[in-house]
Amino acid sequence: MDLYEAINRRRTVREFEAEPISADVLERIIRAAFKAPTNDHMRDWHYIIVRDKNVTAKLLDIIPKGISHEDMEALIKDWDLSDSIQQECYRNAVPKQYRMLFDASAVIIPLLKQKTDILHPDNVSHLNGFASIWCSIENIFLAATAEGYGCNLRIPLGDEAEHARTVLGFPNDYFMPCFIGIGVPKSDIVPVTQKEIDIKERIHWDRF
Ligand SMILES: Cc1cc2nc3c(=O)[nH]c(=O)nc-3n(C[C@H](O)[C@H](O)[C@H](O)COP(=O)(O)O)c2cc1C
Repeated sequence: MDLYEAINRRRTVREFEAEPISADVLERIIRAAFKAPTNDHMRDWHYIIVRDKNVTAKLLDIIPKGISHEDMEALIKDWDLSDSIQQECYRNAVPKQYRMLFDASAVIIPLLKQKTDILHPDNVSHLNGFASIWCSIENIFLAATAEGYGCNLRIPLGDEAEHARTVLGFPNDYFMPCFIGIGVPKSDIVPVTQKEIDIKERIHWDRF
């Protein structure tokens, strides 16, 4: 698949077919992750790939299994979301946070070696390691798309990252930026609207 086709086809997938994903495909995808740019040339990253459903269940048991209609509406109000497309995206995504990971063929946990205090940076360069692993995460999404798979991601809330550390046994100096669910997209997914951006308004030639 051509790069631009993969970029344009990549969408967040939260519903999956019950199909396995082979170790070979996963290895190719992680190989692509390691081709991402890196701030300090070290690519000090690890990726835990969870395919055993017993482990997946333990890993995710801390994530709420759904949300009531009332709580969802309260959340939209709380977050002051006035854009209707943005509201649609959250209404679609929030109730699926557990299932989109549990139903995935694999859950990938990216890890970066924490060399600076990412949660309390002194300056923007202290976030370079964090920025670098996000480049690798985008490579995972694009490689997965090119392979015919789809991905979603969840930012760990509350104690979810510490819970993942306990379940998966990764060391204290490794930081987990997100959960990634990967699998074969369900054939009947109705995609949520992607907000159209007029790039002519967003590109500034020579000055803002
Ligand atoms: C930094 C970041 C954090 C995100 N957090 C979540 C999340 O916690 N849960 C989720 O379901 N999707 C999450 N997403 C995915 C977005 O909801 C999704 O990319 C967005 O709605 C645009 O849809 P698209 O990916 O199909 O273009 C996140 C994406 C990014 C880049």
